[in-house]
Amino acid sequence: MPVSSQRLAGKTAVITGTASGQGRAAALAFAEAGAVVVGCDMDDDGAAATVHKVTAAGGRMSSSRVDLTDETAVAAWAQDVAANQGPVHILYANAAVTRFAPVEQLTFADWKWNVEHEMDVVFLPVKYFWPQLIQVRDAAVVLVGSTAGVTGSMTNGRLAHTAAKGAVVAMTKQLAAEGAPYGLRVNAVSPGMIRTAATEGNLLAADHPMRSIAGSIPLGRIGTPEEVAKCALFLASDEASYVTGANLMVDGGWSAVLPG
Ligand SMILES: NC(=O)c1ccc[n+]([C@@H]2O[C@H](COP(=O)([O-])OP(=O)(O)OC[C@H]3O[C@@H](n4cnc5c(N)ncnc54)[C@H](O)[C@@H]3O)[C@@H](O)[C@H]2O)c1
Repeated sequence: MPVSSQRLAGKTAVITGTASGQGRAAALAFAEAGAVVVGCDMDDDGAAATVHKVTAAGGRMSSSRVDLTDETAVAAWAQDVAANQGPVHILYANAAVTRFAPVEQLTFADWKWNVEHEMDVVFLPVKYFWPQLIQVRDAAVVLVGSTAGVTGSMTNGRLAHTAAKGAVVAMTKQLAAEGAPYGLRVNAVSPGMIRTAATEGNLLAADHPMRSIAGSIPLGRIGTPEEVAKCALFLASDEASYVTGANLMVDGGWSAVLPG
């Protein structure tokens, strides 16, 4: 049977961090698949630009300014969505921002900053949208891990980032257990090196040692936000109806194949 291009028809999908990168690509892909997209970000201009792109392409999307590290704000947002746009069928907890440092340079404050901006931003939307998700049939949550959550790096000192993304991968499994009695599936996508604003200014910058990594990625290139969005869309859709607790690596084989 061919896969329907309207795989998310009739569904409302909450996507966090829709102002740029993978969140924007997901908003476009999920809307194209028929979902009503509910986005959020703190970058007002970027978020508005994404809404414009989605609606110009014929999709349906709204967006709110939410700081995902702020419990009160996330709770109020979830309540507002439930009242005005619910029920929610899909949560794609995409947003996060990171700071890299090896252990000798990592301060306790940096460590806590990463926990807040990579774990709290996942926990809070999951916690506050969960009551809506368990009430609908065939709901799905997709979290965003990273190759950093399952491997160490010789080139990039990133202890707090590795710990936070490893925690997101672990959260996927525990949430899969807690969602299963409700038929709620919980999976993760774990991108490798993806070309977005976040990496262009950092790991892919001309003077960064990571820039040469494409040579050690089996598929021989950096990935695109659209390639991650397609995998998240699959996990969010009924095509993945028997998949829960999985962590889908979207990394060109980077984490699976040793260089050399
Ligand atoms: N780009 C990569 O190579 C890569 C690799 C592995 C994992 N990831 C993960 O993929 C996800 C998306 O990354 P990206 O590269 O698209 O990054 P990005 O910086 O382009 O987009 C992240 C978006 O999230 C928003 N955001 C961050 N913190 C927020 C908060 N507290 N409240 C509201 N909005 C917030 C930002 O404003 C931004 O628009 C992240 O979870 C990231 O850790 C990225």
